[in-house]
Amino acid sequence: MNALLNVNDLHVCFDTPAGTVRANNGVSLEVRTGESLGIMGESGCGKTVLFLSLLHLQQPGRIVRGQVLLEGRDITSLGEPEMQRIRGRVIALVPQNQATALNPAYTVRRQLLEALAVRRGGGGLQPSGRRGDDSADSGEFARVFGSLGFEAGPVLDRLLRSYPHQLSGGMRQRVLIAMALVMQPRLLIADEPTTALDRAVKAQALEALQRLRGGLSMLVVSHDVDAIGAACDRVAVMYGGRIVESGPCADVLSRPHHPYSRLLLTAQRRTRGEPLSDVAAETLDLIHFPPGCPFHPACPEAMTVCSVQAPPECELRGGVTVACHLYRETSR
Ligand SMILES: Nc1ncnc2c1ncn2[C@@H]1O[C@H](COP(=O)(O)OP(=O)(O)OP(=O)(O)O)[C@@H](O)[C@H]1O
Ligand code: SF4
Ligand SMILES: [Mg+2]
Repeated sequence: MNALLNVNDLHVCFDTPAGTVRANNGVSLEVRTGESLGIMGESGCGKTVLFLSLLHLQQPGRIVRGQVLLEGRDITSLGEPEMQRIRGRVIALVPQNQATALNPAYTVRRQLLEALAVRRGGGGLQPSGRRGDDSADSGEFARVFGSLGFEAGPVLDRLLRSYPHQLSGGMRQRVLIAMALVMQPRLLIADEPTTALDRAVKAQALEALQRLRGGLSMLVVSHDVDAIGAACDRVAVMYGGRIVESGPCADVLSRPHHPYSRLLLTAQRRTRGEPLSDVAAETLDLIHFPPGCPFHPACPEAMTVCSVQAPPECELRGGVTVACHLYRETSR
C-alpha cells in the first residue's frame, strides 16, 4: 500500500506565560491508502493538536520542526488558500461534538447540500437553500448513506427532512460522517467518534465506521478500545506528544509491549472507554519536559538509563514498533 499521509518528527509548541508547552514532541506516523489508523492516548497527550496541525488549524500553536507529506507532497508550510482546497476535499474532519457540530436551524438535507456546494467549488448555498439538479443530489445522498448502511427509501427520506434535535446522538454522528463523505475526501479524520454516546448509539456509530474500513483511509482518534478495534487496522499509542507504540490492532490491543500501553489498556478496559487523564498524564509536565524517557517518573519498569537517555524506536516482529529501552536488545 502507498503512503497517503506521512508525518515525520513533528514538533508543535504553544507559547504561554508559564513557558513553552511542548504538545507534540516528534510525532512520526504513516497512513497508507485504504488503511485506517487509530490514535489512542489519555487526555492531554496531543491527539487533537496533531490532527489540527496537519490541517494548519492549530493556532496559536506552531510547528517548530518536522514535516507533513500528503501523497508525497510537503504541505507543512502551504499557504492558507492551498490549505482551504485540502481541508474537506482531501482531508475531511468529523468533529468530536455531535451535539453541537450540526446547524440546529437546518435539516439534514440542507446541511448536506451546503457540503456539496463547497465541494463543487461554491462558497455554500443561497440563504434560501435553493439550487438546481435535485435528482443528482438525491443520488449522491443515497450513495453516501448507502455506504453507512442506510437503504434509499422512506427511512432515509425522513432522515433527510429531520432537524438535528430530532435525531439521536448516534444518528447525528452518522450525519456528520455523511457530511464528510459528501466531500469525497482521500482521508477521513474522526475525533472521538464514540465519546459521549451511550452504549446503544455508540454501536450505531461504530457500525458506520466499520463499514467504511477498507474502502477509505481513516485516522480515528479515540479513548475507546472498542472503537479503535472496530474501525482500525493499525493503532498508534501516544504519550507526552509522541507515539510510543504502533502496530496492527490485533497485536497491540491484545499484547501491548510498551509499559504505558499496558497501563492505558488496562485502565480503559476498566472504565469501558471513558476519557482518561489519570493513567500517567498528570505526572508529565509539558513545559519542563523530563530528560530521558518522558514516561520514566510513572513507569513501573523504569531502569537507570530511562531517566538519562531517550529510548530508541525498536522494530519488533509483526510490524510492531516500540520506543522503550526494554526492547533495545530484541529489536530486529
Ligand atoms: N491553546 C493552547 N495553549 C496552550 N496549551 C495548549 C493549547 N492547546 C493545547 N494545549 C496543550 O497541548 C496538550 C495536548 O492537547 P490536546 O488537545 O492535543 O490533547 P488531547 O490528547 O486531544 O486530549 P483530549 O483527549 O482531552 O481531547 C494539552 O496538554 C494542552 O495542555
Ligand atoms: S524506556 Fe524505561 S521508563 Fe520508558 S517506558 Fe521503557 S522501561 Fe519505562
Ligand atoms: Mg482531543
